[in-house]
Amino acid sequence: MERLVEELNERLRDSSAEEILSFFIKEYNGKVAFGTSLGAEDQVITHMIANIDKSTKIFTLDTGRIFPETYETLAETNKKYGINIEVYFPNSERVERMVNEKGINLFYESVENRKLCCHVRKIEPLHRAMTDVDVWFTGIRREQSVTRIMTEIVEFDSANGKIKVNPLVDWTEEDVWNYIKENNIPYNKLHDRGFPSIGCQPCTRAVKPGEDIRAGRWWWEEPEHKECGLHSRENGKMRKA
Ligand code: ADX
Ligand code: SF4
Repeated sequence: MERLVEELNERLRDSSAEEILSFFIKEYNGKVAFGTSLGAEDQVITHMIANIDKSTKIFTLDTGRIFPETYETLAETNKKYGINIEVYFPNSERVERMVNEKGINLFYESVENRKLCCHVRKIEPLHRAMTDVDVWFTGIRREQSVTRIMTEIVEFDSANGKIKVNPLVDWTEEDVWNYIKENNIPYNKLHDRGFPSIGCQPCTRAVKPGEDIRAGRWWWEEPEHKECGLHSRENGKMRKA
């Protein structure tokens, strides 16, 4: 698998994001999926996929704690592109057990509780969303955080046993917003209110101008903990410095 990943990176090194998406949609016909949080990067990818092949699976994980504005973006995006973003919910019994044992806002109490909540509300549904899939696309960019600077275009996601493809890995925040404006892409209105990165409502807040773009995510934790497990670095192949 490592060899395949290396070959794919070599082959796609100079390709545009559209070319990368087209390549996998054709090569892995029916076995690809895009996981969208409806954030700015993900809206760029949805736009590109809708132009390549509308039958490509696009899914979102609804943790039960996301913002109303994110639901509005979901509805608007489905309507604009004539697509149906599949929504995956957490297992209700597991959520009930967790909340009744540890409290509704357990995540503020410890990193352990926060990771448990992310596991129940995101990771388990992610596994279900990707049951029949070999390749998944994400909107990760290297400059997003200290945990992401080693990200490659193609990686092996050993936690999920899938090839993970990050077509916007080299894009800057400016590239993302230029593309959104030029192509009139719908976006989450929270981005205009100081939220560069949007996750669950209790775990996301606005940042001040000049602050790190992920400073508003799990703001009470240290930067190196700020991953929910969807993208754990120890699970990916590390890029050689
Ligand atoms: S997170 O791990 O901290 O939540 P972030 O919000 O930066 O991740 O998003 C990184 C990528 O993970 C997104 O571009 C998207 O591909 C995927 N992702 C994040 N949240 C979701 C979600 N709720 N549903 C589906 N995919 C998601
Ligand atoms: Fe739970 Fe917060 Fe993780 Fe959402 S981001 S799943 S509310 S801990």
